[in-house]
Amino acid sequence: MQETLAIIKPDAVKKKSVGKIIDRILQAGFIVVAAKTINLTQAQAEGFYAVHRDKPFFANLIRFMCETPIWVMILSKENAIEEYRELMGSTDPQEAASGTLRRDFAETITRNAVHGSDSRDSAYREIAFFFSESERIAAS
Ligand code: CMP
Repeated sequence: MQETLAIIKPDAVKKKSVGKIIDRILQAGFIVVAAKTINLTQAQAEGFYAVHRDKPFFANLIRFMCETPIWVMILSKENAIEEYRELMGSTDPQEAASGTLRRDFAETITRNAVHGSDSRDSAYREIAFFFSESERIAAS
């Protein structure tokens, strides 16, 4: 089994899509190993997205991620990183395949409803960024 870090972002929280998104994640066979809501500080958002610090969309992205509390989850499944990225669809919801979370729930390339780790290294870093061992609620 592999683990990945999933986030439900403020646009989806505001539209009350959290329950539907979690249902789709469970239907796709992922196990939720840990979950919580967190109101990111600007410093936390900047730390989480540090690799994008020099991108033109960085300031918008940080403001957006602090709009409401977000949901963060550790998801477990075989090949979880790639499978969750497939479930999410392309970063830009306009380009996301039908049936994907971003196609069905996202608004724009920044306000794109969900995040998922893009590699094993990212998953390791992102899970450690949000969760301690004692916050795990199920064996993976
Ligand atoms: P995410 O998968 O969380 O990783 C980085 C985020 O930056 C991405 O989703 C989008 O919210 C945002 N993002 C990525 N590329 C762009 C872009 N070209 N323009 C605006 N926002 C972007």
